[in-house]
Amino acid sequence: MYTMGIDVGSASSKAVILKDGKDIVAAEVVQVGTGSTGPQRALELAYQASGLKREDISFVVATGYGRFNFTDADKQISEISCHAKGIYFLVPTARTIIDIGGQDAKAIRLDDKGGIKQFFMNDKCAAGTGRFLEVMARVLETTLDEMAGLDEKATDTAPISSTCTVFAESEVISQLSNGVSRNNIIKGVHLSVASRACGLAYRGGLEKDVVMTGGVAKNAGVVRAVAGVLKTDVIVAPNPQTTGALGAALFAYEAAQKK
Ligand SMILES: Nc1ncnc2c1ncn2[C@@H]1O[C@H](COP(=O)(O)OP(=O)(O)OP(=O)(O)O)[C@@H](O)[C@H]1O
Ligand SMILES: [Mg+2]
Repeated sequence: MYTMGIDVGSASSKAVILKDGKDIVAAEVVQVGTGSTGPQRALELAYQASGLKREDISFVVATGYGRFNFTDADKQISEISCHAKGIYFLVPTARTIIDIGGQDAKAIRLDDKGGIKQFFMNDKCAAGTGRFLEVMARVLETTLDEMAGLDEKATDTAPISSTCTVFAESEVISQLSNGVSRNNIIKGVHLSVASRACGLAYRGGLEKDVVMTGGVAKNAGVVRAVAGVLKTDVIVAPNPQTTGALGAALFAYEAAQKK
């Protein structure tokens, strides 16, 4: 039996197809989020990768910020539940999940059965999210891919004191014009995002293992900064952008069995 999960995020659309609730036969990402053709393109890529068609899929669960705009799903489930489900499937030792996406950051605490004990979310402000990193990459005239490794060449951390993306952007521009090294600024940018995420993860007490997911988990510099702030190892979820869609496909399998 095949089931599908689709995660319609603010920055990207993800589709996962599962066979019998355990084998991932497709996990596709399109860097286009809700409000456009992103979800449809992610689906098409997943059908291509698996050689399957819509009729082959027994149940579809949609998650993510744009889940209610996606009309071809049998059910909608929140992102928190789907990330928890997907991460527990991949890393059963996970007790704290840090998901940093395009427009929000979340920390989710799991019990030893994968149940959600608590969650904390920053969805009020771009600081501490992927959007902040995108803005900084533009100001620093680099790409997200390149920026992720440049902190390793830093000789120091140029801290960012502003807690607002707009002010932080001005701060980085003045650091650049004052001759502060670009790599040191990048290290400060990573630390700024990491500190905010760790603030969420610390609430209620940190429990290990700590697993990072969402697109920003692909940024090795932010992962290093999170590990540094938490003073613990951080596991990066395999294919981290697709864990919400994986969780949705797992819920779809459970629903299909009940049908
Ligand atoms: N290759 C990459 N290297 C570094 N960072 C990346 C890469 N790809 C994506 N990102 C980061 O991931 C972010 C998007 O994350 P993700 O796809 O999880 O967001 P989303 O699920 O659409 O958003 P949200 O959950 O907030 O609605 C981008 O803003 C960017 O900072
Ligand atoms: Mg997301």
